Amino acid sequence: MTKSYFPEGFLWGGAIAANQAEGAWDVDGKGMSVADVALYKPDVSVEDYKKQWHVDEQAIAEAIAEKGTGNYAKRRGIDFYHRYKEDIALFKEMGFKVLRVSIAWTRIFPRGDEAKPNQAGLAYYRDILTELKENGIEPLVTLSHYEMPLDLVTEYQGWVSREVVDFFVKFCKVVFAEYKDLVTYWLTFNEIDSVFRHPFTTVGVVEERYETKQAAEAAIYQALHHQFVASALATKYGRLSNPQAKIGAMVTKLMTYPEDCHPENIALAEKANRENHLYSDVQVWGEYPKWLLREWQEKDIEVAMENWDLATIKEYTVDFLSFSYYMSLVVSKDAEQREKVSGNIATGVKNPYLPMTEWGWQIDPVGLRISLLSLYDRYRIPLFIVENGVGAADEIDGNGEINDQYRIDYFKAHFEQINLALKEGVELMGYTSWGCIDIVSASTSQMSKRYGFIYVDADDEGNGTYDRKKKRSFDWYKKVIASNGSDLA
Ligand code: BG6
Repeated sequence: MTKSYFPEGFLWGGAIAANQAEGAWDVDGKGMSVADVALYKPDVSVEDYKKQWHVDEQAIAEAIAEKGTGNYAKRRGIDFYHRYKEDIALFKEMGFKVLRVSIAWTRIFPRGDEAKPNQAGLAYYRDILTELKENGIEPLVTLSHYEMPLDLVTEYQGWVSREVVDFFVKFCKVVFAEYKDLVTYWLTFNEIDSVFRHPFTTVGVVEERYETKQAAEAAIYQALHHQFVASALATKYGRLSNPQAKIGAMVTKLMTYPEDCHPENIALAEKANRENHLYSDVQVWGEYPKWLLREWQEKDIEVAMENWDLATIKEYTVDFLSFSYYMSLVVSKDAEQREKVSGNIATGVKNPYLPMTEWGWQIDPVGLRISLLSLYDRYRIPLFIVENGVGAADEIDGNGEINDQYRIDYFKAHFEQINLALKEGVELMGYTSWGCIDIVSASTSQMSKRYGFIYVDADDEGNGTYDRKKKRSFDWYKKVIASNGSDLA
C-alpha cells in the first residue's frame, strides 16, 4: 500500500464522447455531424499524421450521399445509445464517482440552426443523466466534443461564421435549463487547441475553401476566437441557470521537452509549451497573450471581433481546468534528421527514454506529474484529468479472458505520478480514464484500438455481437477506486 494523497471525495471515473460511443447516428431525429463524415483510416504513416483527420469537400459530399457502403465507424459507435443502462451498471460496479459524457448537438438541434430543439434528443439525455444520478455517478458533460452539426459546415463556414456562436449558445441555454437539476460539472470545448491539428473536426473549417495557406490560417484563428467567445458565454449562462455549476475548459496537455540542453533546443521547447498554453491562458486568465496579438500583426491576420468580445472573455473565465494527457513531445533544432513518432496529438522527435504503445504513442507517466505541477503553478485553479489511457489491440485468450496487464501497468505508473503531484499540493478534482469502455477511435475510427476496462465485441467493420466483457483491468481499477488510490498493486 502506498500512502495516498488523493483527497476525500476525489472524482474517480471514466470518459466517453457521444460521437464515438452512441452510434444510432440517424435515430430519433438526430442530424449529421462532422463525426459522421469520418472514414475508417487505419494505415496512415507517422509523417502524414494530419491525413487521418483530413476531410475535404468531396469527402463531405460522399458522406452525405453515402447509402451504407463506406466504413463510417462512428455512425455505429458501440451502440451506447441503446445499451447505456447496461454500461452504467458496469461503471457503477467499478465504483465510478463520475462519468464524462458529451451531448451530441445534433440530437438537440439536428441542423444546428433550428428555432426549436428536438424533444426526442432532450428526452434521451435526460434518461441517461437520470440513470447516472440514480446510480450515484456524477455526470461531467462536455458541450462540444468534435461533433458539430454538418449543416453548419455546408450552409455556413463552420465556426468562422459568427452566427455559429449564437447557435451554440442557444444549444447551451437549452441544455443548461433542461438539465440544471442533474448536472453540476460542465466542460465547454473538448481539446479546443486541436483547431490547427484537425480544423474540420474542431471548428468545421474546410481548408480547401481558402485560396492560400495564410487565408486558411486566418480563418482558423477567426473560428477559434468565436469558440473562445462561445466558451465564455456558455460559462456565463451555465452559472446563471445553476449557481452551483462548475464550468471547466478542456485542453490537450502537450508537455514538450528539448532534445538536450542546447539553448536553441530549450528555446524551441519553451515556444512549444507557450503555444500549448495559449488556449488555457485565454480561458483561465481571460486574455489573449501579447505574443499572439503580435503574431497576428506580423502575419497580417485580422480577427474580426464584436466590441464586447474581449470583455466577455475577460469576465467569464472558467472555474477549473481540465485536460487530456497521453504523451509528451520532444523538439530539436535538428528535427529533420531525427526519427519521428506520432500520437493523436502531433508528430514529434522520438524520445529514446520512453516506451511506445502499439500505435507509436510514447508513454510518459512522469510527464503527467510535470504537467500537473506546471499547470497548477501557472493557473492556481483546480485541475481535472479528463482523458488518459492506452490504446491497445486487446485479444481474448484461450480461456476467454482479456489479460490486459499492460493497461494495469500503464495506469499504475500514471497514478503513482499523480500521487506525487498531489503530495506537492496540486489541487485535482478527479480523474476520468479515456474510453473506460472500448469505443471507436477518434483519429482512425478503429474499433481495434481499445482503451477500455470493458471489452466490446465488435470489429473494425462493425461485425460482432456488441456484447460487453470485463477485462482483467476492470477489477484492478475497482480496487484502486475503493482504496482511493492507495492500493495500486
Ligand atoms: C483525444 C480526444 O484527443 O484523444 C478523444 O479527445 C480521443 O476523442 C482520444 O478518442 C484518443 O485518441 P484516439 O484517436 O486514439 O481515439
